[in-house]
Amino acid sequence: MIDIPKKGKKFILARHFEGSPTHDNFKLVEFDIPDLQEGEILVEALFLSVDPYMRPYSARLLQEGTSTMIGSQVAKVIATKNGEYPLGTRLVGYWGWSTHSVVNPNNVATGMIGSFTHFPDIGNLSPSLGLGAIGMPGNTAYFGFLEICQPKEGDVVVVTGAAGAVGSLVGQIAKIKGCHVIGFAGSDDKVKWLVDEVGFDKAYNYKTADWDKCLKEAAPNGVDCYFDNVGGLLSTTIRNNMKDFGRISVCGSISTYNDKTPTMAPACEAAFVFKQLKMEGFLVGRWKSRWMEGLSQMTKWIQEGKIKVKETYTEGFEQMPQAFIDMLNGVNVGKAIIKV
Ligand SMILES: NC(=O)c1ccc[n+]([C@@H]2O[C@H](COP(=O)([O-])OP(=O)(O)OC[C@H]3O[C@@H](n4cnc5c(N)ncnc54)[C@H](OP(=O)(O)O)[C@@H]3O)[C@@H](O)[C@H]2O)c1
Repeated sequence: MIDIPKKGKKFILARHFEGSPTHDNFKLVEFDIPDLQEGEILVEALFLSVDPYMRPYSARLLQEGTSTMIGSQVAKVIATKNGEYPLGTRLVGYWGWSTHSVVNPNNVATGMIGSFTHFPDIGNLSPSLGLGAIGMPGNTAYFGFLEICQPKEGDVVVVTGAAGAVGSLVGQIAKIKGCHVIGFAGSDDKVKWLVDEVGFDKAYNYKTADWDKCLKEAAPNGVDCYFDNVGGLLSTTIRNNMKDFGRISVCGSISTYNDKTPTMAPACEAAFVFKQLKMEGFLVGRWKSRWMEGLSQMTKWIQEGKIKVKETYTEGFEQMPQAFIDMLNGVNVGKAIIKV
């Protein structure tokens, strides 16, 4: 018999972000959990995610002072008035930074507020992977790299944000495809982890290294594929080291998300013309119709030991703002997860 709580907790966006997020941007509030109507379910969060997109998207999607912070969670059904969703059903949903949510699965939402997916069969793996390698970041790595970079065996691949949720997976998928993989990440420990444990061929600390020198050393004949998680001047340097007909997948631009004034970078057109480069941005939702294909392949690679997964856990729902601030500051290795 599950004890059904009467109250839930959620974080609202108290104030829109200006520059780097701080604790003042968030407010923790308690709310009454309403009685379920016919067809509805009550879900309880088990794991929640903090992701970089929350920084740029909040201004577009949320009202300060009232909106629940956007975000996804792995949750289980703890009360139900819907026969298709029995107690214990696990779901991955965009129900925000909230411990409990009443959901009517018949009114299906799309996008980043209210949509949800069923959990794939992942055997004994941790359900938290539904927020990382077997979830949105996993599909971002899988489709964003394979579809846009079109890697071939022997290609030289550069990944920035390499020790994070998406980047660490991209590097490993590139290795599976027979590529030579170079990563940039933000600490010596991350660099060591990438080379010693994850299997990158080379990795550099972008905070201390001479980027151009590193690239000339690790990729003397140039770079075939660049998976860009960070944008800014590091990306300009990498683009200038591409081979003819190089492919660039622009996944994110985290180095600019907190900018109060736009980051200025040197003009890049000449490199595009003379090396005949191709650069394409994407949002992972583009592959919605193939979602389960990506998750199934990621699950298989993890179960076969071909992909190693790392998660950085923060304990306690109340710690979500700190976990978010930490993730933006590079405290996480692999996927940043909050365990309720
Ligand atoms: N296009 C899409 O559909 C899609 C989907 C998911 C994610 N993304 C993007 O992919 C990127 C990675 O996301 P993720 O979920 O995997 O996050 P993550 O890499 O797990 O975490 C963010 C990381 O960004 C790095 N970082 C912070 N400030 C930086 C800066 N100024 N320069 C370089 N690196 C910086 C930090 O690592 P260091 O210690 O290395 O600095 C931090 O750990 C983000 O840009 C995100 O917006 C895009």
